[in-house]
Amino acid sequence: MIAIYPGSFDPITNGHLDLIQRGSRMFDRLIVSILRNDAKQALFSVDDRMEMLREVVAVYPNVTVDSFEGLLVEHAAAQGASVLLRGIRAISDYEYELQMALMNRRLAPGLETVFMMANESYSFISSRLVKEVFGLGGDINGLVPPSVEERLRRRMANTKRKAQS
Ligand code: PNS
Repeated sequence: MIAIYPGSFDPITNGHLDLIQRGSRMFDRLIVSILRNDAKQALFSVDDRMEMLREVVAVYPNVTVDSFEGLLVEHAAAQGASVLLRGIRAISDYEYELQMALMNRRLAPGLETVFMMANESYSFISSRLVKEVFGLGGDINGLVPPSVEERLRRRMANTKRKAQS
């Protein structure tokens, strides 16, 4: 069974990674798919996000990383996936996830969305908050993989350098 774990992953957090690890045990193949969305202002380019993801999923032989444009259900069909994997952290995620799952089911009735509850240690983490806290000088140790923290440090240093010149 092939599953797709779609998202923005800007950047990947330990919450995403926990889901990937658990998903890799549930499915024969798990494809982590990054949405290419020019309308959404991202901190990292899709190529950078793919690189970061590939570094951290390298330990799971049945996990691969790709990107997609357009409808998720079409990408899933092209990959031969029968499952969409999504994580739910809190009740506040539920409404958005329900809407997406029902819309995707309408578009592709044979594609099942499977939800996994986030690990309680990571249920407060989001990419948005990680970027905000890091940008304001807060400690994000343990919230993202060390390689991602390093990239965030370099990215912020570059941004500051550009702002000063
Ligand atoms: O991590 P995110 O940003 O919450 O992920 C959202 C994502 C990428 C899963 C969603 O925006 C998506 O699937 N976009 C692709 C376009 C699409 O298929 N839209 C209809 C889905 S209901």
